[in-house]
Amino acid sequence: MSEFKYVPKRAADISKVLRENSKRPISYDFAVKDTMQVISKRIKELPIKPRSIIQLPAETDKADIDINSISHITESAIGDADVFNSDDQRDVFRLGDVYEGSRVIMKHLGLDIGTKTIVVSFKNSKDKTNYISEINGYWPFERATPFIENMLSDPKKIRSDGTMRPARFIKLDGGQIVVLGRDAEEFAYAKNDTLLRPMSEGGISADEEAMTVLASIIHGLLETAETELGQFDDEVRLCYCTTAPAINKDSNLAYHERVLNMILDNYKSKTKLSHITIKESHAIVLNMSPDGTGIGISWGAGTVTVSYVRYGIEIYSFCWVGAGDWIDEQVALRHGYNPELSKTRKKVSKETPTTVAKRKTEVDLTPGKEPDDRVGLDIALHYDVLISQVIDGIVQGFAENESQAKIDQEINIYMAGGTSSPKGFTKRVEKKLEEKDIPFALGKILIAEKPLFCVAEGCLKAAEMS
Ligand SMILES: Nc1ncnc2c1ncn2[C@@H]1O[C@H](COP(=O)(O)OP(=O)(O)OP(=O)(O)O)[C@@H](O)[C@H]1O
Ligand SMILES: [Mg+2]
Repeated sequence: MSEFKYVPKRAADISKVLRENSKRPISYDFAVKDTMQVISKRIKELPIKPRSIIQLPAETDKADIDINSISHITESAIGDADVFNSDDQRDVFRLGDVYEGSRVIMKHLGLDIGTKTIVVSFKNSKDKTNYISEINGYWPFERATPFIENMLSDPKKIRSDGTMRPARFIKLDGGQIVVLGRDAEEFAYAKNDTLLRPMSEGGISADEEAMTVLASIIHGLLETAETELGQFDDEVRLCYCTTAPAINKDSNLAYHERVLNMILDNYKSKTKLSHITIKESHAIVLNMSPDGTGIGISWGAGTVTVSYVRYGIEIYSFCWVGAGDWIDEQVALRHGYNPELSKTRKKVSKETPTTVAKRKTEVDLTPGKEPDDRVGLDIALHYDVLISQVIDGIVQGFAENESQAKIDQEINIYMAGGTSSPKGFTKRVEKKLEEKDIPFALGKILIAEKPLFCVAEGCLKAAEMS
């Protein structure tokens, strides 16, 4: 534990700076004569735990305090408060986490806007990539009563992610209450209902509330980056990603991009936030390949997106509509799930897309080790179909772009995305590739260390390079 250096004459200034930079009560002032023990005792008695007890360099004497020079605090002084700092191993944050590390100035941001998960990435003060993630989902209450609103607004309630805070929700014009993100997932699970999503198949969905929900989630993440974990520099460059044009369905990617541009342009900040976009599979190659060359495959929830990239430049991209969500739905359908009945919230089947999605996290896809339960086996069989279709798409892409695509060297395949997470997945892809006639020399097949965060990190790299 580091020594506590308290500089009382500056406490009021520091409080002011911190208050202006955060939405939560974070700082209390103490009398000059107070010792560390007295301060610790008083903190434990406070009705709202301070976000930080500030340890300042002894020489701090500036009227204008640089918030980033404020270093970490003594955790024992705040007892059992749920806090952590940037020195922790932890690099993934969620909305609602109480953060105690130094707040880095952010110049670049990566933003992976996925059908299931949205992830913001940034560099922390040690130049390590950190992430803020949120589920891209919502759950509307059919009738909003004052009781429901009070329950959701209660700041003393422990939410499903273990943090004590109000739930995140918005009220639509008609008075309907819509819970957002992880909090929405909690309600959907509790009611054995399906979480609604503002996006499907990699694009904004047609539901009336989709745009409002998506904007609220994205703005919430940016606000957390800007006001809780860091501070935006005068100018911030952001790179977000999308899927690619689909080969098995009509998609309107241009419309989706317009919506996202509008959402980002509407984010209110003193900073000038400029943005660019790349394909999510392109981001994977930028992140994983040392020379920016290879085939990137993002195995997501709505789509599998593929890009062939040479020295950082995209040669071709496509997406296959139907990925993790498709597996969930198809397997559930085979086990009695009826989406029409589900809409009226009558539950008749044991399996729903939600239960299948949970089962997927335990499935072993190693060839020859097929699961022996029906649901597990059906998941493995649907994975086979999906992998086959994606490989056929890669072969077709090579044929259509022959002049640019052909190179003498071996081509590595880099994979990420939640659907690539199960044990044995890479082996299954290898096996399928061996069975097919591939028009290029295949190098290694590599999977991201962090399948759910690799795309966001690649976007951050693209923002830094642009
Ligand atoms: N451990 C796991 N095992 C199997 N599947 C998983 C695991 N973790 C997540 N998934 C699945 O991965 C999918 C989500 O992955 P990801 O977050 O990469 O998608 P996304 O980026 O939101 O979607 P998309 O890229 O299609 O827009 C879901 O279908 C989910 O069920
Ligand atoms: Mg994705």
